[in-house]
Amino acid sequence: NNTNVQFFILAYLAGGIPFGLLLAKWFAGVDVKASGSGSIGATNVLRVVKETNPILAKKLGAATLALDALKGIVVLLIAMAVGLSEATLWGIAVLAVIGHCFSPYLNFEGGKGVATGMGVMMVMLPIETIIALVVWAIGAKVIRISSLSSMTALLALVIASFVLKPEMAHAPVLIIAFILFYKHIPNFIRLFKGEEKRVI
Ligand code: G3P
Repeated sequence: NNTNVQFFILAYLAGGIPFGLLLAKWFAGVDVKASGSGSIGATNVLRVVKETNPILAKKLGAATLALDALKGIVVLLIAMAVGLSEATLWGIAVLAVIGHCFSPYLNFEGGKGVATGMGVMMVMLPIETIIALVVWAIGAKVIRISSLSSMTALLALVIASFVLKPEMAHAPVLIIAFILFYKHIPNFIRLFKGEEKRVI
């Protein structure tokens, strides 16, 4: 119906806001698309701004992570308050991630979807997301490569959703996982070549 469609459009338009690109440009005067991995997410904001201002880099990286997660969370919470169905909420979750990864404001290019995906999953599958976050934190500490930690956490999330919620329709989880995986193909190529940049 009409309300669902309006929320889908809202999710896509909100998901597309490239907070990392904007914050790095406004507060550090750098173009994250032209440096580091060229990605617009928290990892690359941290990586690129760190070269000139490590303290600011941490702040902007954290703000990017929070805002990229929140843009999906906020739309979902409003949709929940309005009483939209579970299936519609999943549609909103998927569209927020698509908005981030294929932004209407960046010629349909965009980020890699980790923060936005984490945000929407936090609302839709909180226990599974906490498990994924623990895996991510361990990965980040041990391997210190953002992309590999993210992909390991993503795998943990998918597995946790099948184990803990075998009855749910897993299509939206798999779609989001596929988008994130697809967006990390350049990272995988760099990893195999041993050229992946570490954050620290
Ligand atoms: O969250 C994105 C991360 O997994 C990889 O980012 O900049 O290292 O390609 P980046």
